[in-house]
Amino acid sequence: MEQQLTDRPRSAAILAEHARWVARAKTPHVGFAAARARGAIVVDADGREYIDFSGGVGSLNVGHCHPKVVAAVRDQLDKFMHTDYAVVPYEVYVEVCRRLCEAVPGNSPKKALLFNTGAEAVENAVKIARYATGRPAVIAFEGAFHGRTYMAMSLTSRVHPYKAGFGPFVPEVYRIPYPNPYRGITTDMVMESLQRLFRAGVAATDVAAIIVEPVQGEGGYIVPPDDFLPRLRDVADEHGIVLIVDEVQTGFGRTGRMFAVEHVGVEPDLMTVGKSLGGGLPLSAVVGKATLMDAPVPGGLGGTFPGNPVACAAALAVFDIIQEENLLARAEAIGRTMLERMRGWVERYPFVGDARGRGAMVGLEIVKDKESKQPDGQLTQRIVRRAWENGVIILQAGLEGNVLRFPMPLVITDEQLNRGLDILERSMQEAAAAR
Ligand SMILES: Cc1ncc(COP(=O)(O)O)c(C=O)c1O
Repeated sequence: MEQQLTDRPRSAAILAEHARWVARAKTPHVGFAAARARGAIVVDADGREYIDFSGGVGSLNVGHCHPKVVAAVRDQLDKFMHTDYAVVPYEVYVEVCRRLCEAVPGNSPKKALLFNTGAEAVENAVKIARYATGRPAVIAFEGAFHGRTYMAMSLTSRVHPYKAGFGPFVPEVYRIPYPNPYRGITTDMVMESLQRLFRAGVAATDVAAIIVEPVQGEGGYIVPPDDFLPRLRDVADEHGIVLIVDEVQTGFGRTGRMFAVEHVGVEPDLMTVGKSLGGGLPLSAVVGKATLMDAPVPGGLGGTFPGNPVACAAALAVFDIIQEENLLARAEAIGRTMLERMRGWVERYPFVGDARGRGAMVGLEIVKDKESKQPDGQLTQRIVRRAWENGVIILQAGLEGNVLRFPMPLVITDEQLNRGLDILERSMQEAAAAR
């Protein structure tokens, strides 16, 4: 359908070529192609501007092409682009690891390893946990998203379109519910499910790791009660289970802290990070307790490109920008503005069931009606489409695809934010009227 757009002829031409040459599994979210982007603005091939509430799915907390990131990348390009760190090491890799270890909460000595993607970080965190404990099992949550490689996909919860038809999956993955205040799933219920799993599914002594998102991302921007992670931490400690906190989406200021675990004072054993770490370039990491990180033998973990020096140079700029531009406070302010506005929408519109968030990680749940709370994924999809047609890029999330999420660059201006929210509200009205 997008290919027939007559008001965006250059984008239409690119998308026609896309349909010819790119496998259909990679389906674009919007009906235009990017030509350039700065800060929180994307310009399409026909010169139209969009306010970017998607931020490369949360990978651009410092914004598109931040001048400091661009300068750091250019500087590194003049030096060298690749060696393979395991063959010839270099300083920017070490510096990124040091900055990560210093940034992750908790007093235990830390070490880090760099990778390319969030999924790769997850794979390696599980490898480290299994190697260190000598145990096979991993516990994940309903609604979890940890990536699309085989271990990560096995940990990921959503079946369509991520898992259906792609099995068999990695064995020894067990799943329990994630708390959901809007839908009445409490921390007590989750803890009871965990204890039942230990009785009816897998022995706690066979569990290498529990992997958890501190705020569920792809699962629908679900903020768990504050006692959830501390209680999970206690169970992990009791049974010698490695607690892996996946901060790929929540990290680098999204929730108003550098990492979301800081809100509840929990020290992860291992943390996975990615997305915004590289300022727009692919870079991810596992960072955690040195005793665990050092468990695998020399040469036991690696790859050709992990910790590419250009991405590392960008990441060092990202650490500086977050500090210099007060992006943690900015995330809080963005979240306040959004939630204030969106709570009004919950009252005003029968199809807006819930507005929730932590810092600038804000989700809006779209339902058929407030009484049944039945998810309305189709209306959500129409809102997403109306929004980009009207000039704002937003994203869908949730097991039923009925949550709107907005992981925008934190450098967005107040004017852009408010204009984007105006457009979003109008798009919701238009999409609902077309029902
Ligand atoms: C929490 C979480 N973990 C892991 C991943 C996978 O990251 P990537 O797509 O870079 O492999 C994502 C991606 O959205 C994520 O949100």
